[in-house]
Parts: sequence; structure tokens; C-alpha cells
Amino acid sequence: MAENLIIDGQTKAERYATLLPQAFALIDGEDDLIAAMANTAAAIHHTFGWLWTGFYLVKNDELVLGPFQGPIACTRIRKGKGVCGSAWQQATTLVVPDVDAFPGHIACSSLSRSEIVVPLLDQAGAVRAVLDVDSIELASFDDSDRAALEQICARFSRLFG
Ligand code: SME
Repeated sequence: MAENLIIDGQTKAERYATLLPQAFALIDGEDDLIAAMANTAAAIHHTFGWLWTGFYLVKNDELVLGPFQGPIACTRIRKGKGVCGSAWQQATTLVVPDVDAFPGHIACSSLSRSEIVVPLLDQAGAVRAVLDVDSIELASFDDSDRAALEQICARFSRLFG
């Protein structure tokens, strides 16, 4: 994998088209989960300039902060709490166009206005982590983000022992 991230395209679709093969190469070329998460968070974050992009890992009965880019964040989230804990509990991607309208949203940053959280499953189908991306604008995320980020997250399944 090259050491430079290539960012190209004006539209979100064009940017994902450039990002996806690079993200796949970063993940497929690394056997250490944390290292792969760290570069993936950086690649997504800098492709789009989001407010916050990062992973939380399932540890016992809570999510614990993992590799991320952006401002410091909450370190622990209970199952079922906030958008992250809800995506874990429901084992499904949650797209939140307005965080103020999401009951129980956890405001790590007052600048966050919209959010997407994608679960990462192991090969047995258990949720082992979530990817959280936050934007300073309302309604930044849609089905194109869901589809692309789910492809990226699915690539991690072999890294969960
Ligand atoms: N807003 C998230 C918490 C994590 S931070 O945004 C990085 C939530 O409600 O789960």
C-alpha cells in the first residue's frame, strides 16, 4: 500500500470510488486490527473532511474508544446508549440526519449535527466494533455512505480473532 492517500473527485460518489480500493488495500494488507482501523479512520476522515471519524471496540458490556481522527471523544459507551450503543444493540447501520432528534444521542462534540454508525461483525456475525462518522452539517449521510462504509466495515471481519 502506498503511503499517500489519493483524494480525488468532486462528488461523494467520485470520492468513494477513489477511497474504496485504497481502504480495502489498507485493511487487506494488515493483520493487526488496531493498525488497520487507524489507517482506515484517517483515510475516510481526510477524504471527506468530516468532524470526527473513528472506531469503538466492544469490550465486555461496553464500547471502548479505538483509533480515530478528530477532537477527543467519550471513551466508553454502554450497550443501547447513544447512536453507537444503539447500532451495536440492533446490529445495524444507523443514519442520523439530526442528532438533536435522536433520543439519547451522546454529544461528544457540540459541533456534531449528523452522524452515521456502522457495526463491524466477526465471521460468526457478532458485533465486535462500530465505525462512527460525525459531521458539522445536518443530513450529511445517506444510503451512499451506508453502502460504502458497510463495504469497508465488512472487510474487517477476518481481523477479529
Ligand atoms: N455521538 C455518539 C457518541 C460518539 S461521538 O460522537 C464520537 C453517540 O451518540 O453514540
